This record gives sequence, C-alpha cells and structure tokens, in this order.
Amino acid sequence: MNRSLLILIALLWWDPSAVAAETVQSARRGMVATIQPIATRAGLDALRSGGNAIDAAIACALTLGVVDSHNSGIGGGCFMLIRLADGRLFALDGRETAPARATRDMFLRNGKADPALSQDGALAVGVPGELAVLAQASQRFGRLPMRSLLEAAARVAEDGFPIDRHYAGRLLDTQGRLAASTEACAIFLKGDGRPFIAGEVLRQRDLAASYRAIATNGVDWFYRGGFAKRTADWMRSHGGLLDEQDLSGYRVIDRDPVRGSYRGFDLVSFPPPSSGGVHVVEILNILEPYDVNSLGDRSADFVHLVAEAMKLAFADRAKWLGDPDFTPVPRGLISKAYAGDLSRRIRMDRATPVTAAGTPPAADTDVFRRESNRHTTHFATADADGNWVACTASLNTSFGSKVVIPGTGILLNNHMDDFAAQPGIPNYFGLVGAEANAVAAGKRPLSSMSPTFVLKDGKPILSIGAAGGPTIITQTVLAILRTLDFGADPAAALSGGRFHHQWKPDELHIESRFDPTVIEELRRRGHRVVVEPSIGAAQAIGITLQDGFTGAADPRSEGRAEGY
Ligand code: GLY
Repeated sequence: MNRSLLILIALLWWDPSAVAAETVQSARRGMVATIQPIATRAGLDALRSGGNAIDAAIACALTLGVVDSHNSGIGGGCFMLIRLADGRLFALDGRETAPARATRDMFLRNGKADPALSQDGALAVGVPGELAVLAQASQRFGRLPMRSLLEAAARVAEDGFPIDRHYAGRLLDTQGRLAASTEACAIFLKGDGRPFIAGEVLRQRDLAASYRAIATNGVDWFYRGGFAKRTADWMRSHGGLLDEQDLSGYRVIDRDPVRGSYRGFDLVSFPPPSSGGVHVVEILNILEPYDVNSLGDRSADFVHLVAEAMKLAFADRAKWLGDPDFTPVPRGLISKAYAGDLSRRIRMDRATPVTAAGTPPAADTDVFRRESNRHTTHFATADADGNWVACTASLNTSFGSKVVIPGTGILLNNHMDDFAAQPGIPNYFGLVGAEANAVAAGKRPLSSMSPTFVLKDGKPILSIGAAGGPTIITQTVLAILRTLDFGADPAAALSGGRFHHQWKPDELHIESRFDPTVIEELRRRGHRVVVEPSIGAAQAIGITLQDGFTGAADPRSEGRAEGY
C-alpha cells in the first residue's frame, strides 16, 4: 500500500474524541473556524439559515471586522481561496493597491526609509480590497443576500461585545500610537484615555452605521459614494495620496491558484502577490526527498531540516517575489527539479549559510501569469455540499494605519509597509525585498498570507492558513507536515511546537515548548536561536471517516471551531 494512502487512512480513522484539545469539534453539516467565538457563531448562523460556505465566510469576515477589528476589516484586504462543490477552484485577490500617485521612493526622507510613514497615518494606507472580494464572492457563489449578513454584523457593532484578553493586549500595546488619531481614540479608548480591558464592552456605532449604509446602497457607497468622498477629503487634508479615483478603480483579481503536490497529496494555495502559496509549495518540495516522519516532530533534526528549507525559500522570496502584474515571478520556484537542487545544499550536521537567492529554471520566461508576531486573521468554512473557503484578511499590523475616517468607524490598513520601501531595508516584520517589491502606482504589496487546501483525489482533506506576517508561511508548512507526515488531526497539527526562519535576519525563532536539549543542539549546529513564548495563530478544518468535518482554532488564541 502506498504511503499517501496509508496517511489518508490514518487521517480518516482519526477519532476526534480521543484528542483532549478544547478547540476540536466534529460535525456533519458544516464547520467554521475563526479566531473569535462571536465570528464563528456568525458563520454558523449563516450556514443554519440556508447559506453555504461562501456565505458563512462572508459573515465571518464582516463580524471579525467588528470583534477582531485590530486585525482585519473592510478597510483592509484579503485573499479568499474557494473550492466549489463541483470541484472548481478560485483565488480572489482583494489585496490593497498602492494609490495612483504612489512613487517608488515615497517613504524615503533624506535618502533613508522612514518606517513611521509606511506604518502609521495617511501614507501607510493602500486602497482596500476586502469589501470588494466579499461582494463579488457573495454575488457569484453565495446563496444569502449580503445585506442580511451586513445587518447581523452591524448589530454586533452597535450592541457591543466584551473584548477578550487578546484584544485588550493589543489595545494596551498600541494605545500610544492610537493617540495620534482623535477618531481612533474616541472609539478604542475610554473617556479617560485608558484602553478597554478584557471583559469590558466595546461598541462601534459608526461602524454599524457604515455596514448599514453598504446594506442599503451596496458596495458603491464604499468605493464611489459617501465613504469614498469622505476618505478622499480626509486624505487631502492629512497629506495622503489616496483619492476617489483610486477607490472607484479598485478591482478584485480572479487568479489561478498555485498548484503543487506533497507525498501524493495535491496542494492548492494563493498565488502572487502573495508569496505564501509559492513558498509553502517550495518548502514542501525541498523536504519531500527526506523521510521527515522518521525524525519525529520534536527533534533537533526535524527543526534543523525544516528551518534550513525555510531559509532557502525566504532568500528566494526576498529577490523574486512581488506583484506578478508588475514584475516577472518565476514559476520555476515551485518546480520539483529546482527544489531538488536546493535540497542537496542542506547538511544535517550544521546550518549552511545562504548568501543569496537561487536561480529557478526559465526565471525570465516562465513566470506567473499577469492579469489584467499575529497580526492578520485567518478563518475557514466548509459545508456538506463540498464548498470550502479558506480566507486570510488583514489590516496589516495592529489597528493598521490607526486612521479611522471620521464618522465611519472604519479603520484603514497600513499595507503600504509590505512593500520594500528601499531595497534591503527591513519592513515591520524584518522582511527585506528587492526591486520586485518596490512601490509603484497601482501595484499590490507582497504578502505572506497563505490560505491553502490539501486535496486527495480532488477532494479537500485539509484547509489551513494563519496570521502573523511571514510566520504565516511557516505555520502553514508545519501544519501540513504534521498532517501528512505525522497523521495529526487539525487540533494536533495546530498545537505542535512552531519555529520560523526567514533568511534575514539569520535567526531561528522557536517556541519555548521545545525541549531545552533541542534548542541547545540547534545552537551547536550554528543556528542563532531566538526562543519565543508562542508563534502565530492558525485555523484549520479537516475531514473525518464519516464524511464529517473536524475543525480547530489555534490553542494559542481564544478562537473557536464549531460545526453542526
Ligand atoms: N500583512 C501581512 C501580509 O500580508 O503578509
């Protein structure tokens, strides 16, 4: 019997009741997994009222924009990966675009990149794409009117909800930077200027009114109507570049998903301008020749091998990746032959210095098609008909640009910081980039968001994705390795220890749950090890033997997976 069949059988025979994690749920009719129980409940309500997985995902996104508003919202962007019941796959790109007046050196002052400009305030804001994706997904694939989903989320915003520890922590960390925005302070801080604490109720009445304006007038209110006008006015008086034409010109791009394979399973993930899909596939290709299972997933050998593969892939990311509509991104990065060359560079006894990116085959000619710490959030939905959605949405860093357009309650992203403001100069996440990811008018900044499906014989067996900047890619890889190489169910795949290497800085970040002897051995092999209390937040849905679903929200957060 071949290995992939054995793994599949192990997966299907997995008994959810045998796993102690609170996060695991099993159900036959549908499943929803998000970082916040109120958003999970909104997705389930959509399924229960006759909606499909696409409606559920839209309900989750709109509600997360209320209850997890520091991470994502309609002022930001998203990548939505959809598998329809008939097997068709779609990758809806709602990434922000740089305004038409953006220029390559717009973040340089006295010849040096100024991160304050790309991270906070008017210049940090890219043209938001999330709402356009939600509207398009609803119109093409949904069953419920989006109006009803907006109204339900508006009620949560108006009535308020008790913030969780995670939200409270973000408020505490960001309060100093929020202080620059009177509008943001009025919403997210109390009358005495102190942040809300866990358990206190946050109400967002302006956001509720904005959701209702969209419910009544359609998304045109956002892209061409009242919101567009107010945003352009605000930008003009605060030194911003984004204007009415940028908003009215925003387009969702329907892209071809990245396809790959690992040990007989098919991988489907998000293409550029995400680097996620390319590097999830590249890292797994590099690892495929190794007998990963024999290493055990807690050993120094396992961490070393996988970290070496991560490092090679992130060196490629820094050179080659950018918006494929502006820069040629070589398809050879996901070829098995290229990964074979990289695999042979790995030595098990010591960390190999990686000085530069590799050169994938046909780098100039075979390119992706041109089209005409835990920030961000990932959620997943699935229904009994066979529709699945994996969606990662983001404002970028906590509370995005901190800009709230007066009277709207809508926080705007700071995704302009995901461009390489200057070649070789790190962004917020310490990522470096090159010309491929330089700022240009209308261009989409490179992302790491990696909504991914694993399929067997055309049917999804796992839906996975994560939050946390570049660690999104490595969390996704680790969850797939634990599922396919170690037979873990979603809860176990998410609770296993994590580590991350992104080439530059040359540091191996690893969770403290790894045994000290493993960390010591990694140092001995030459890794600069940085021990972290925890890395990232992922959500996953898998399948059970009885054609049911099992889901998990990351045990490191307060999320919830629930089905019915
Ligand atoms: N803002 C995180 C990402 O898109 O990678």
